[in-house]
Amino acid sequence: MDPRLRRSMNEYYNERAEEFDEIYTLGKPPGTVTDPELYKEEARSLGNLVREHCRGSILDIPCGTGYWLQFYAADCSAITLVDQSENMLREGREKAQEYGVESITTFMKSDALEVSLEDRSFDTVLVGFFLSHVTDSQMGPFLHRLRNALKPSGHVLIMDSNWTRYRGSRPKEGTTVRTLNDGRQYEIYKRYFEGADFDRMSDACEMDFSVQYEGKLYLGVTGTARQ
Ligand SMILES: C[S@@+](CC[C@H](N)C(=O)[O-])C[C@H]1O[C@@H](n2cnc3c(N)ncnc32)[C@H](O)[C@@H]1O
Repeated sequence: MDPRLRRSMNEYYNERAEEFDEIYTLGKPPGTVTDPELYKEEARSLGNLVREHCRGSILDIPCGTGYWLQFYAADCSAITLVDQSENMLREGREKAQEYGVESITTFMKSDALEVSLEDRSFDTVLVGFFLSHVTDSQMGPFLHRLRNALKPSGHVLIMDSNWTRYRGSRPKEGTTVRTLNDGRQYEIYKRYFEGADFDRMSDACEMDFSVQYEGKLYLGVTGTARQ
């Protein structure tokens, strides 16, 4: 990815940290909101998916504000939160305190595409709304590294933006401008997925994927390493 675009995206998320959860709690995504209730309802569905699929030693990469912690904290024995944004990690630390799991949580301010991960060390890898900011050339190597970080019995849970008619006239992939509550604007890279996209990616990362949730807005997919 062009370094200028990457810097803009990183800054955007760092500055958005305090307002980020509004997408889940208020149904208020950046951009035009057609139906806040739909966003809230689908966030609840994803919460149930996280509760169902996250357990044991978990890597939440990148974690953002740690919003999904509330759904997996009780079932996890060790938690690793990775994000490039200091402000996002601060929110994550507050949530880890709130849910009583700070003592079993490791916080890492790192580039998710480059962070060093120990092989076969996680039962669950959660990737929420990050692949939609990853280009084709970054995708295979990233997923392959996650695959290697999984225990043989482990799995990834990927949640991201589904490509449906509810996306209106947006392009399926490309650069777009995002606006913060105070009006500041940033250029970011954003793509949307269909279940079939994961079939196409599976050979490159030696993983098998299975669609668990297909909403009007969001998609939930689990993946296991091919042995
Ligand atoms: C859309 S948010 C999703 C956060 C969280 N996973 C969730 O589902 O709510 C994207 C997050 O990815 C982080 N991020 C973007 N690019 C990154 C990178 N290369 N390395 C680490 N974090 C990154 C941003 O700082 C932001 O917190």
